[in-house]
Amino acid sequence: MDGIILKGGAVLEGTVTLGGSKNAALPVIISSLLSADKCSYRRVPGLRDVSTTLRLLSRLGVTIEKDLLADGHLELTADKIHELEAPYDLVKTMRASFLVLGPLLARFGEARVSTPGGCAIGSRPVDLHLRGLERMGACIRQDHGYIEARAKELKGAVIDLAFPSVGATENLMMAATLARGETEIRNAAQEPEIVELAAVLTGMGARVGGAGTGVIRVEGVPELHGMEHEMGPDRIEAGTFMVGAALTGGDVLIEDARADDLKAFLAKLRETGVRVTPGPGGVRVTGNGRVHGTDVATQPFPGFPTDLQAQMMVLMAVADGASVITENIFENRFMHVQELNRMGARIALDGNRATVRGVPELSGAPVMATDLRASVSLVLAGLVARGATEVSRVYHLDRGYENIEGKLARLGADIRRVQRDD
Ligand code: EPZ
Repeated sequence: MDGIILKGGAVLEGTVTLGGSKNAALPVIISSLLSADKCSYRRVPGLRDVSTTLRLLSRLGVTIEKDLLADGHLELTADKIHELEAPYDLVKTMRASFLVLGPLLARFGEARVSTPGGCAIGSRPVDLHLRGLERMGACIRQDHGYIEARAKELKGAVIDLAFPSVGATENLMMAATLARGETEIRNAAQEPEIVELAAVLTGMGARVGGAGTGVIRVEGVPELHGMEHEMGPDRIEAGTFMVGAALTGGDVLIEDARADDLKAFLAKLRETGVRVTPGPGGVRVTGNGRVHGTDVATQPFPGFPTDLQAQMMVLMAVADGASVITENIFENRFMHVQELNRMGARIALDGNRATVRGVPELSGAPVMATDLRASVSLVLAGLVARGATEVSRVYHLDRGYENIEGKLARLGADIRRVQRDD
């Protein structure tokens, strides 16, 4: 498994370009199952999670006409679906595979999808997805680790989500596009990825309203047609590079970053004393001497995103003063803390709360990645730690960041990828 070696001390300067949004691309690519026509996507990020999704879709019978690696262009046609099962070996490697349930059920009346099971950051149940589909008339059975769903025809329904789950909102919104009648999803997730998926479904002929608010209404239609879409920029990648600029006291323009998609995060970044300047070309982040500690609590959008919690913790680890970071979305999303403490951070955990006491500097060390955002926080820590840091098991990193070592090197970081046969 590959590793990444960094030497701390560089100041990041220059311009970085963002890849297409991973968390929008996965549901958007899966939405191609809803139509027999060709769907064409551009700026699709070359990530492991995208390749896993394509492997799953081709196993179902989707024709993949364009090579993803050629400038992020992808053409999918789901006119010869011959399989309605998403197998455990694929769903366990990437839980977003569970999003095929709604489209398969809506278009073909049945689906057999492995339950995703937990992962490093939490148990991650799918009860909200299943209860919502049952409200729409699906019969759901669970055995041998698989969900078996059947529905002669899905009916529109009013669905109250107990929690604004991103995945449940996406699964139910896609299922509702082909249901008979109107569906109303209340307490829906409001993330920008929901808005992008709704725009793609609308482009396919679906009738979706309210995306980006807490109530989404979908009027079912008999069928959907193909569409073309260029993915928007990855806002979590944007936030990650903003922390890198703040950490190193640098000056970086994150090209094409959308400030409106990161309001709560940018407000917190400003509270630490970092200069944040949104502009037509993207968002510029400039270090401003030492940063001050500030408290952070993750929340569903438009609150502070859980996917930027680990990155923010690194900035707080070397800030002046103390910070309390509360993780309200996942029950075990502090896997990076022990590794950061091995690098000299002073972070104490108490349930879903981390108290971070800023230290003058971190020291480089061999550390291990455990999940996607934890692994990138270790890379960020290596940027400012004294001496060398080696992050192992970076396949976690490759799930959500395309060539991050190349992008950081271009900004001035001393970083390289190494082959390891461990
Ligand atoms: C999406 O995961 C993202 N993944 C996650 O990003 C992100 O952290 C998360 O939304 C929250 O913003 C993709 O979009 C592919 P949820 P998802 O359903 O849909 C509980 C990354 O690093 N829940 O909003 O799985 C669940 O256990 C990844 O890019 C239920 O209880 O998130 C969790 O505690 C990590 N029952 C909370 O809701 C359900 O049926 C949020 O989950 C569904 C969820």
